[in-house]
Amino acid sequence: MNDRSNPYQSPRPPTEQLPRGARDEPSKRTSGELFWISSAVIVVTFLLEVVLAAAGSGGSFVFVAAVGFFALVLSSSLGVARAARAADPGVSAGGRTPSRLDRWVLALGHLALMAVGVLVTLGGLVVGGRGRQLRRRGRVLLPPVAPGAAWAADRAPMAGLGAVPEGLADQWRENGRTEHASVAAFARLTLDLMALGAPPRLVTMAHDDGLDEIRHAEECFALARALDGRAASPAAFPAAQRVPRRSRSRRLALAELAAESLIDGALNEGGAARALAKLAERCESEPIRAVLKRLAADEGRHAAHGWDVVEWCLAEGGWVVEKALAGALRVLPAELRSTRPAPAASGAWERWGIPGHALELAEYRAARAHLVARLEGLLASRSAATRP
Ligand SMILES: [Fe+2]
Ligand SMILES: [Fe+2]
Repeated sequence: MNDRSNPYQSPRPPTEQLPRGARDEPSKRTSGELFWISSAVIVVTFLLEVVLAAAGSGGSFVFVAAVGFFALVLSSSLGVARAARAADPGVSAGGRTPSRLDRWVLALGHLALMAVGVLVTLGGLVVGGRGRQLRRRGRVLLPPVAPGAAWAADRAPMAGLGAVPEGLADQWRENGRTEHASVAAFARLTLDLMALGAPPRLVTMAHDDGLDEIRHAEECFALARALDGRAASPAAFPAAQRVPRRSRSRRLALAELAAESLIDGALNEGGAARALAKLAERCESEPIRAVLKRLAADEGRHAAHGWDVVEWCLAEGGWVVEKALAGALRVLPAELRSTRPAPAASGAWERWGIPGHALELAEYRAARAHLVARLEGLLASRSAATRP
């Protein structure tokens, strides 16, 4: 129906009278320029992160990741939206042959989407792999610890611990802080899943895993108390509410959630489960071994649930999620930095359940190898299924 046959259609704006090329050029050029800027931000941020990681400069690493992320958001948010529209098969259907400019926009759009996975991965690995965590500007959010027995009540007999080195209890409290923060991280996961329309099976998993983390936190703080006699617990944790919001675009939010679940769930919880199982074999204290076995079984189940979230996001978000996961895959470091103090990092405290760096690194590498093989298989089977 044209203007003449439809008297209720409002008059076309003056730009509609322009020739097609002149009409499209300004907005496409803007989109292309935005993507070049985004790509430069990604490359510069990545190179700086590699240099800082090699130099072991943790504070600068986080700062550069945060600055790079915000620069990318500023420069690419408009461009990603335009590229996603241009690349969407639903938009391009109709037989129109894409111009060279369209193809550039499409390619750069893919790069920007991969950057979602890259940045989530770099942010996730700052911590050194302790399971699902909350982050703000690349920094892991952990609760403060204060005197009190609320999270350190005796849950199981701890007799027979014997003499232990000074500082061991504090390492178990550090474990307890990350477990406590994981409770909030699973609450966030539940909210994300609800917001994105996940099925009840995944929401139930998130709730169950969050309940596990409450028990883990209690067991860690109770064990620390049994070791040095000090009753201390996580204090108020208002930072748990100050996490960044997800993207307003559902598909980009799915991509963020998929990359996060890949790193925190499949990799970090998977690596933690493997390390805990090894520690249970090496532990010389029966009460601590019992705790380690329970933690290992739960973290292994959480890692499997992380994969369930990844696969659901892939099924829902399609190629957008694929690109984010492919980006995450490209920047998975082969190494894991140790965050333990010297006596623990040496492995001398493994008889009391605190992993040394060699053990953490070996299990991280094994979890990483498993992740790479499984994700590559997943992406390959999807691309084979969608190939015309
Ligand atoms: Fe845990
Ligand atoms: Fe966990």
